[in-house]
Amino acid sequence: MKKSVGYLLGAAAGAMLLAQCTPGPSGNGTANAGMDKNEKSEAVLENIFARKSVRNYQKKTVSKDTLDLLVKAGMAAPTGMNRQPWEFVIFTDAQAKDVLADKLPYAKMLKEAPAAIVVVGNTESSKLWMEDCCAATENILLAAEALGLGAVWTAAYPYEERMEAIRSVLGIPDPYIPLCLIPIGYPEGEQQAKDKWKPEKIHYNKWQFKKFS
Ligand SMILES: Cc1cc2nc3c(=O)[nH]c(=O)nc-3n(C[C@H](O)[C@H](O)[C@H](O)COP(=O)(O)O)c2cc1C
Repeated sequence: MKKSVGYLLGAAAGAMLLAQCTPGPSGNGTANAGMDKNEKSEAVLENIFARKSVRNYQKKTVSKDTLDLLVKAGMAAPTGMNRQPWEFVIFTDAQAKDVLADKLPYAKMLKEAPAAIVVVGNTESSKLWMEDCCAATENILLAAEALGLGAVWTAAYPYEERMEAIRSVLGIPDPYIPLCLIPIGYPEGEQQAKDKWKPEKIHYNKWQFKKFS
């Protein structure tokens, strides 16, 4: 997958999303309207293949509308029995970012990120809260890529001390659990998506025992 094509299509998909999706409770905008079917599927696949973890950001703010749109993409994820056992904390406060960057060992990039979203599971609403919140997180990451933003999944669950740090700084009560924290910003520098395509991991019809070198 050539990066330049993926990047251009990702940016195009992002522009379409921004232009045609109305964030907010009443927004039912349809992304990619005006594209034919092949263009839509190509744009979606290119965006999936172009997504990468981004840990360096420009000093440029991300608008509230854009952050709301990311969360709207999160809420479009599949969810067991349609329970939607998720909540999202969007924050841009410099002090909260600094404190959390200090407390979270693998989220130091939060200090430089202009914004972050914490995906929070409602453990009383569904046994499948974690799966559903993971699906929502991936949707947010894909939407960020499509919008020309950079983002990275940083783990909270299942690490007690990381969950507690996030819960205390952001005031998240029981029975809610932060699954992850996603720093978000406009990427600084060029980053390539990793090629993870490993055909030997596919089994057709039945498990195939394979030799590993
Ligand atoms: C469950 C999960 C937890 C992760 N936790 C962290 C983290 O705490 N800090 C971090 O920098 N990246 C974290 N990552 C991002 C991974 O390091 C990254 O997805 C992986 O290296 C593959 O790179 P890619 O996202 O660019 O394809 C996490 C990813 C997942 C799915």
